Amino acid sequence: MEKKFVVKGGNRLTGDIYVSGAKNAAVAIIPAVILSDGPCTLENVPKISDVSIGLKILEEMGASVDMVDDTTFRIDATGLRNSAVPYEMARKMRASYYFLGACLGKFRKAMASMPGGCPLGDRPIDMHLKAFETLGAHVDIVNGVVNVESDSLYGGHIYFDKVSVGATMNAVLAAAKADGLTIIENAAREPHVVDLANFLNSMGADIMGAGTDVIKIRGVGYLRGTTYSIVPDQIEAGTYMIAAAATKGDVTIHNVIPKHLESITAKLEKIGVKIEEFDDAVRVSTPNPLVKANVKTSPHPGFPTDMQPQIATLLTLVEGPSLVTETIWDSRFAYVEELRRMGANITIDGKVAIIEGTGKLRGAPVKACDLRAGAALIIAGLAAEGVTEIEDIHHIERGYEDMEKKLRGIGADIEKRYFPGEPVAKSC
Ligand code: EPZ
Repeated sequence: MEKKFVVKGGNRLTGDIYVSGAKNAAVAIIPAVILSDGPCTLENVPKISDVSIGLKILEEMGASVDMVDDTTFRIDATGLRNSAVPYEMARKMRASYYFLGACLGKFRKAMASMPGGCPLGDRPIDMHLKAFETLGAHVDIVNGVVNVESDSLYGGHIYFDKVSVGATMNAVLAAAKADGLTIIENAAREPHVVDLANFLNSMGADIMGAGTDVIKIRGVGYLRGTTYSIVPDQIEAGTYMIAAAATKGDVTIHNVIPKHLESITAKLEKIGVKIEEFDDAVRVSTPNPLVKANVKTSPHPGFPTDMQPQIATLLTLVEGPSLVTETIWDSRFAYVEELRRMGANITIDGKVAIIEGTGKLRGAPVKACDLRAGAALIIAGLAAEGVTEIEDIHHIERGYEDMEKKLRGIGADIEKRYFPGEPVAKSC
């Protein structure tokens, strides 16, 4: 059966919504459990399909995975039988490349399928593999399968010529148990990079500088089991902040770390949104008319590329030309075609979307082409006049826990409907 969201626009979102654990931290921390020499308990794990796939891969590789409650899992990977990531499973989740770094770090060898491409454009992992080679590993790619192997893994000096979240995290995974000191320069600084380092350090790793552009890892021989709570999802929080603003609502978003939202908060305030910050919550309202603004994505602490479709959607509701520049991905404007069906007036010129805000959108049948594009279409549907039907919502379910339930809890008219058909594969 295929699924779609049916959204009836026009309701102001009001009340309280709660953010789950971060997808982009969870998909790296789950493979990182392989490095542990004891069982680990992970808390605040988001209920999303990327997490289910990651846990299934661990089980297929020989780990025991016990669900303690909806968002808590006890994982014992000490009995892992092999370091080969099951081919078909790995192809279902792009971030399965983190199993390479974890298995290389633990077993000195690893094997996984090359992650496929995706709607965002080419998704190379050359920088990941170069980092492994710097630590002494031999890398081979045969029939789309990556083999990495090393008699001994030793610390090295890794310099990334461009910022890469995945390559940074994979290098940290491989270096945690290497012999000696590894220095990573031009490292990614995202909150999920810090969360992975905090998780490993809670097991006894020696990682310093995560969150800055230089990370130092002194390899250790033993990593004890631990209990760790995954950081709140910065992008889920930002998505609900924009949903509140797009419906001229008044919503308090709980379970957030305001510091992680700084660039999102700053941009929304520039657009005229009112943001009140509390210890672990932000309150979003729009007492004044919103004004146009220009947005340019960049690595943390800049404006996150994973918030680009969402903020572009908000700007279609604001009078006047706004420019949105995407600097990370080659093609992250596929959602624009769908917004045009809803009456948006957007011109794409290379990496720039020129948004002639018309102030309103009309409901229409649309398709989610990737995770964040799907979230943006839900926001568009909430703000539009009439009904919007969103297909291919499996993309959305990869990274947003119970999105329709959480939105209904603050007054959205949204429901999930099933109809005959097969979900399209591919995800990114
Ligand atoms: C992570 O992808 C996120 N995914 C993406 O979020 C996010 O958009 C991206 O970081 C940027 O923040 C996960 O964490 C699972 P990169 P990742 O390596 O690690 C190029 C979402 O919606 N590059 O930082 O794959 C690459 O092509 C997803 O949650 C190389 O050239 O991104 C891109 O242009 C979508 N060679 C740029 O670097 C490499 O070896 C940044 O990519 C690796 C990357």
